[in-house]
Amino acid sequence: MVKFTYYGHSCFLLDDGKYKVLADPFLTGNPLAAIEAEQVACDYILVSHAHGDHLGDAAVIAKRTGAMVLAIPEVLEICQEQVGEIQGHGMNLGGSVKLPFGKVRMTLALHSSGVAGGVACGFVIQIGGVDVYFAGDTALFHDMKLIGRKEPIDYALLPIGDNFTMGLEDAALAAQWLNARNVIPIHYNTWPVIRQDAERYKELTEQTSRATVHIVNPGESLEMT
Ligand code: NI
Ligand code: MN
Repeated sequence: MVKFTYYGHSCFLLDDGKYKVLADPFLTGNPLAAIEAEQVACDYILVSHAHGDHLGDAAVIAKRTGAMVLAIPEVLEICQEQVGEIQGHGMNLGGSVKLPFGKVRMTLALHSSGVAGGVACGFVIQIGGVDVYFAGDTALFHDMKLIGRKEPIDYALLPIGDNFTMGLEDAALAAQWLNARNVIPIHYNTWPVIRQDAERYKELTEQTSRATVHIVNPGESLEMT
């Protein structure tokens, strides 16, 4: 079992009771942020790409907490330019790393990277007996079928905001192609341009896939089993 806490936009925390894994900590300047960057506790930070609404406060939090940042090398360089030396672990698409809580695999994402020579990515995180797929920012892509085949996805965190990423229909198809058991929509309602009806997404996805959709509001938690 692992406790999922949503901090708004694409930022969330996975806590297995011993280790805390934070993702895309855009808190400063995030209108929906449910916690301040100065207050968040974590041991690892996953960063999907260098856009400000994902890289966010990652470097500052890593510096303060000593947490290890997992990202592509180009993103780690930005972190070090911002705050100096941090604990960083460079990865790239398709690579996995074993960590004390489980395993993290860096997956494809179809999105711009925010840094020259970089790529955007997603992650599959094995923690607390569940496999969590964090899609990052992405368009729908057919290889999502392979992600779900390699690691059966217990929970998929999918962007539904449209404009910058998948919208409702594509994110519903993503749930189906991933064969995800559960889905949590993210990356919506932060600004008017990505306003979405999460209830409609839930209806659409549950009609067209096997997934149960959990609408988790910023500041709320969910026990993942
Ligand atoms: Ni982006
Ligand atoms: Mn984004």
